[in-house]
Amino acid sequence: MREITPRKIIEMKGKEKIVMVTAYDYPSALIADKAGMDIVFIGDSLGMVVYGDESTLNVSMDQMVYHTRAVAKAVKRALVLADMPFGSYEISTEEGVRNAVKLIQAGADAVKIEGGADHYELVKKLVRMGIPVMGHTGLTPQRYLRLGGYRLMGETEEEIEEILRDAKALEKAGAFALVIEFTLSDVAKLVTEEVSIPTIGIGSGPYVDGQVLVWHDLLGIYESTPPFVKKYADLKSMIQLALEEYRNDVKEKKFPGQDHYWEFLDKEEFEKKKRRAMERLNRSERNGEAE
Ligand code: KIV
Repeated sequence: MREITPRKIIEMKGKEKIVMVTAYDYPSALIADKAGMDIVFIGDSLGMVVYGDESTLNVSMDQMVYHTRAVAKAVKRALVLADMPFGSYEISTEEGVRNAVKLIQAGADAVKIEGGADHYELVKKLVRMGIPVMGHTGLTPQRYLRLGGYRLMGETEEEIEEILRDAKALEKAGAFALVIEFTLSDVAKLVTEEVSIPTIGIGSGPYVDGQVLVWHDLLGIYESTPPFVKKYADLKSMIQLALEEYRNDVKEKKFPGQDHYWEFLDKEEFEKKKRRAMERLNRSERNGEAE
């Protein structure tokens, strides 16, 4: 069992900020865990940042299972959280349970679903079975078609009511935490005060119990990122520079240099071995032809 459990995440509310980051493969998950993240999250954002899709709507359960396996192998300390992709839990509670089990069997410690009140029964059932669940309200990217795009949420009374209803339903159903995405910070603050479980914000300001960012956004792997992202590095430029240097080295015959290859020190010995190897090859080719 990993050190950070859902119970520890709950205990952090109001005491210590929770830090969560997405990771989709073994090497990045290793780094995230070593950097002291509390939650390493296989988000369905992988559809966009890893597979180049325009939205998260085409992400399959198979993709989530493959990436969860890779991440779970790397993480020793942090809680491993896996996203339930679009269409994997909305059709029936039974299907939601079956798919959540697949993610747990792939190595996740908990699953995340988008929405709250609509999935009350599913969350309750999963929690009763022993599967910890994180909810997600505010901007729910799997519903971006209905929402009319990726936009700031919580400006109207109706939206505030819906966000609060989701949060309270998740708390009542036994979820251990919830993500609040891209809402006005006053709304995120209200929710954080109204529920006993931790709130983890993304683009929702500082009055929440923790923060989550997408790996590619915070490390500057793409030029365009959501407006609320802080870029902590410019890896795109660093990677491009390194690749250009490699390209130039190969073209200009600077790579591989003497440090990167090995040769026979005794050239006579090599000549003998070469002659014998070629004789053996010729013999076996002649025998092959005779058959
Ligand atoms: O899929 C994802 O990366 C997410 C985060 C934005 C919370 O859901």
